[in-house]
Amino acid sequence: MIKIIGTGRKLPTRAVPNDELAAMVDTSDDWIVSRTGIKNRYVCTEENLTDLAESAARIAIKNARISMQDIEMIICPTIAGDFSFPSLACCVAERLGVKCPAFDINAACSGFIYGMEIAEAFISKYKNILIVGADMMSRLVDWNDRATCVLFGDGAGACVVTKGNALKYIRSNSAPDAKMLYAKSRAGNSPFSKDGTSGFTAMNGQDVYKFAVLSVAEEIKTALAELKLTASDINHFLLHQANSRIIDGVRTRLKQPPEKFPVNIDKYANTTAATIPILLDEMLEEGKINSGDTLMLVGFGAGMTTGTCVMVWE
Ligand code: ACO
Repeated sequence: MIKIIGTGRKLPTRAVPNDELAAMVDTSDDWIVSRTGIKNRYVCTEENLTDLAESAARIAIKNARISMQDIEMIICPTIAGDFSFPSLACCVAERLGVKCPAFDINAACSGFIYGMEIAEAFISKYKNILIVGADMMSRLVDWNDRATCVLFGDGAGACVVTKGNALKYIRSNSAPDAKMLYAKSRAGNSPFSKDGTSGFTAMNGQDVYKFAVLSVAEEIKTALAELKLTASDINHFLLHQANSRIIDGVRTRLKQPPEKFPVNIDKYANTTAATIPILLDEMLEEGKINSGDTLMLVGFGAGMTTGTCVMVWE
């Protein structure tokens, strides 16, 4: 079993408020806020994803009060690092000066929970495992497409896990559907291929919305049943930040008060694999999580994937 001993986050410096997007595509601050809860996002300009991931990792390691050399495995949940290869995790390992197993996993917005489950499986062999959820959706959306470009932001969130009794439940899952939400790999210049793929993000927003509300509520109920708990026993539900209405839809299904479902999507938009560790880090920094609190973390994303975990904070 594992526990989290340090967290960190890093956002790009460039803020892009809704009004700036309204000057680029046919949208408005009103539309974006009322449909999604998003007011702002941060987008890479000078930085790349390795920069964000490295910074978040350094803060998490410092907060964990361990040294770089104590890290024995690095997992980066990400849709796409700065390179097709090497992995983002190897780029981070190089920056940190750490030699250890380092690899990426792609479970889209559920990636952080998948990463935790992998860490849990490896923890008897590797003492401290660094997980860095990092994504740069600004490279993967079509900035002329108002239906997608307003939804995402760039960012990285990290945590260090070690042996402990905090984790009580973890489940990664999928309901495979490659058409609901995807970005096809960009076409190369093979003279033999007729593929002209742009690589931009495409989605059926309403189907994703329905999938998210229904499957997240279902996964939460499964976890609660397995642990013989009720929703009232959970102090904080940290849900993937894709849309505040999705979070609200899940919350009302569980008949829980808004303060138990923290939201920071207004500031950062959807940072994909980074939303959950960024939110966790922010809540810890603000002193909102106390020792003994029960947390439920739930991700959902392309795949379609879900990831659910329950921890009693140590
Ligand atoms: N500004 C103004 N109008 C817009 C915008 C925009 N940015 N985007 C779409 N519209 C228009 C549409 O064109 C449509 O116009 P029409 O009625 O003339 O055809 C109208 O608004 C309504 O569109 P809907 O799709 O019905 O709007 P909806 O209320 O469903 O909200 C949204 C759309 C926000 C995308 C919602 O469906 C949603 O949040 N879905 C989930 C998306 C999501 O979470 N994606 C990330 C998943 S995580 C991952 O793994 C990457």
